[in-house]
This record gives sequence, C-alpha cells and structure tokens, in this order.
Amino acid sequence: MTPASFNHRRKRLVMNALPSKFPARRRFLAELSGGAAAALGAGLLGSGKALGDDVRIPGFEQARDYESDKPWEPVADRRIRVGIVGYGVCRFGASFGFQDHPNVDIVAVSDLIPERCRALAQAVRCETTYPSLEELVKDDAIEAVFVATDAPSHARHCLEVLRHGKHVAIAVPAFWGEELDEADRLLEAVKTSGLNYMMFETSCYHAGLYAMRQIYRAGGFGEIVYSEGEYYHYCPTPIDSFRDWRVGAPPLWYPTHSTAYHIGVTDGSYTEVSCMGMPSIVKHLMPENNRYKNPFGTEIALFRASEGGMSRMTCSWDTPGHSGEKGRVRGQLGSMDDMNYQGLAKEFPPLRRPPLPPTMAAGGHGGSHGPLCNEFVLSILESRRPWIDIATSLNMTAPGVVAHRSALKDGELMKIPQYKFE
Ligand SMILES: NC(=O)c1ccc[n+]([C@@H]2O[C@H](COP(=O)([O-])OP(=O)(O)OC[C@H]3O[C@@H](n4cnc5c(N)ncnc54)[C@H](O)[C@@H]3O)[C@@H](O)[C@H]2O)c1
Repeated sequence: MTPASFNHRRKRLVMNALPSKFPARRRFLAELSGGAAAALGAGLLGSGKALGDDVRIPGFEQARDYESDKPWEPVADRRIRVGIVGYGVCRFGASFGFQDHPNVDIVAVSDLIPERCRALAQAVRCETTYPSLEELVKDDAIEAVFVATDAPSHARHCLEVLRHGKHVAIAVPAFWGEELDEADRLLEAVKTSGLNYMMFETSCYHAGLYAMRQIYRAGGFGEIVYSEGEYYHYCPTPIDSFRDWRVGAPPLWYPTHSTAYHIGVTDGSYTEVSCMGMPSIVKHLMPENNRYKNPFGTEIALFRASEGGMSRMTCSWDTPGHSGEKGRVRGQLGSMDDMNYQGLAKEFPPLRRPPLPPTMAAGGHGGSHGPLCNEFVLSILESRRPWIDIATSLNMTAPGVVAHRSALKDGELMKIPQYKFE
C-alpha cells in the first residue's frame, strides 16, 4: 500500500473516531489529539528531562521481591575492568548495577554530552571519563564495555568495542531498522573475535519468562505450539531521545521485549512473518511527521517459529491503557502465563532467578537489571557464552524489522534471515 493511500485511510479513520452522535466522546478525542495529549505525554513521560523517580514508564518498575533457589557464591576473586557508555534519558549506564558487583571495577565512563558524562561518573563512583565511546575503547585497561547509547548506534558501537578486543554488553535492540548488513557484520565479528557479546533484553529476566525457559528446557511444554508477547507503551508524544531516534519509530523495530517471550524461552528463531498495522491517529506516528515515513503506531505480527509453532508478537505506541511488557506460551504438554503453569508436567526444575551478590539490587524492569549484569560478568569469569548471545539477540531483533516490511505490504508473508552461532 502506498503512503498516499495510508494517508487517505488515516483521514477516514480520524473522522470515524469522532462520530457526531457521540458529542462527549467527540470532544474528548478532539482534546486528546491537541494540547491535552501533549500535556498527558509530558506528565507521563517527562519532556526534556531524564527519568527520575517522578517520571514513570511502563516496565520500569523495580522488583518488589527477588528470590533465588540458592544463595550467592562467588565464582572468582578477580575483578573485571569495565567501561560504561551512555547516560541518556533512561540513565541506563548506571542502572544495571555494574558499580555494585563485587567482580567489577569501573575504569572509565563516557557520554557525548559533558554534563551526562559527569553525572554518569558520579552515579557509578568512577573518576575517569572520556568524551566519546570512540575514545574510551582505546583505553587498554578496559576489558569489557556496557553500551547504553541510542538504538541507531548500537551495531556500530558494538563493532567498535569488539574491534578493540573488548567484550561487549548492549541495551536493546541489537541493531536498528534496515541495518541488516550490520547484523551480519556483528555476527561475524563476535565469531572471529572469540569475545563475549550479550544483549540486555529485560524481559528475559522477568520472573515468568525465566521460569518458562527452565520448564521448556526440562521438557515441560514439549514444543511450543503458540506464544504471545506484547509491549504496550502509549506515547502520544515521543520520549526524548538522542537526535530524536524515537520520534515515529516503527513499533516492531523495537521488538525484543515481545519476541523474548518465544526466542528467550526456546533459543530458536522465527522463519517467516505476516504483519499488519493500522494507520495511527498520533501525530508523530504519521508518515509525513517522522524520518522513517512510518504510518503505524501498532503492529501485530504472526510468525512461524523454527520448531514449527506459531507466535503472535506486537508492539503498540498508540493505544492507551493496560501497559506493560508481557507474554505467555502454549505447548504440546502445558501452557504458562506469568508464574502460572497448567499442564501435564508433574516435576519442575528450580524456577527462581539466579542468586545475586548481596551488594547488588535486582533493580528495574521487574528485577531484571541485576541478573542481566551478573550473567554478563559471570560469563566472562567462567569463559563461557552468555545467555542472549549474538545469535539469540539477532534472532530477537531481525524478525521485527522484516515484520515492519510486511506491514508496509499489507501482510505479505516474508522470510526472515537466520542467525546461528554453533
Ligand atoms: N527495557 C529496556 O531494555 C530498555 C528501556 C529503555 C531504554 N532501552 C535502551 O537503552 C538505550 C538508552 O536509552 P536512552 O533513552 O537513555 O537513550 P538516549 O537516546 O536518551 O541517550 C543515548 C545517549 O548515548 C550518548 N551517546 C551517543 N553516541 C555516543 C558516543 N559515540 N559516545 C558516548 N556517548 C554517546 C548520547 O549522548 C546520549 O546521552 C537505548 O538503546 C534504548 O533502546 C532499553
């Protein structure tokens, strides 16, 4: 479908949303599409400021309880020398607890914006700063870098870190939009370097998803027949972002909070997709108002999974209410939503998340930050591959990019590239 016919449909849609026989609703929607929406967005999301305690984003909640099946035991005395880059609106550079891990020394930090760089240094109690990632990676004392920069820079920044012989952990997604060639280069760089790469997908350490993964591996689902994942985050005005990368972004270019609810459970991949979208009535999600020419605020994708099952994944920026990052699976032997398993399995492996050092908080996104950091650190200490390694990261990210292509062609069935790291 052409952008012009999208425009035509969108106008019809807005008209339909304001039927004259419902004057109160008409007034409410008219107000929302104007100043009230902006005010609501600013109140919820905080225009022009970083996300402090006063600003709430769905999914950012701290863990209320975090329990493990066994106590923390150190695996080594060694301290890994870590650099951290990026202290943007989400303040991610400081929020995964590297500074509180007993096996980490933070050697240096960086952000292009000097006041953010200083604030990050203070937050992680580090004295050395560099003006950019490109300068920081030249520091020979650093052996691993956590990159929390803007999504469009992720692949390039990870390649730069790996090129300098350092392990890398990255905020989601693994790469941005149509950069599929960078995904290939990333896979190749990780394979040839022998260094660790891990993507910090927060859904993976949601208590429910983590437990689903353990049950799947123990055979308690058989194969997954059907799974669902969703990231619902109403953005009437976009959250601030470096060089405005978030403005009008295609929803499923940000797929990993959802796709984790299948790929994070099985370690498999998606092979093909048909996806649909609906022209958005939100201003920054209209194609003439964003650099991506993206007309959608919600995309719904139906995937075929490598094990043979089906999966419905979505991301929605333009539907208010019932927000969050959620998912569930249905298998040949059982099904599960959150921590609630129903099915034929009678015995279960340990389901609770791994123990954390007593100095660390489980942290935000439902207690996923601490265990993500800990898994990356342990993988280096134990000279093994981390969970959510390069293949899994690309298999969570690329399907969303192809899904958006499919949505632009009104649901055409499309093949998805496969990433393997044997
Ligand atoms: N649940 C989740 O997993 C989750 C939630 C929120 C954000 N994120 C991800 O976290 C990342 C950071 O989010 P944000 O909102 O803080 O981003 P942002 O766009 O607000 O900030 C990015 C920061 O990176 C810095 N930067 C860019 N290039 C740099 C370079 N070469 N050297 C040094 N600094 C550089 C910028 O100055 C900026 O401060 C994003 O990739 C986002 O997708 C993930």
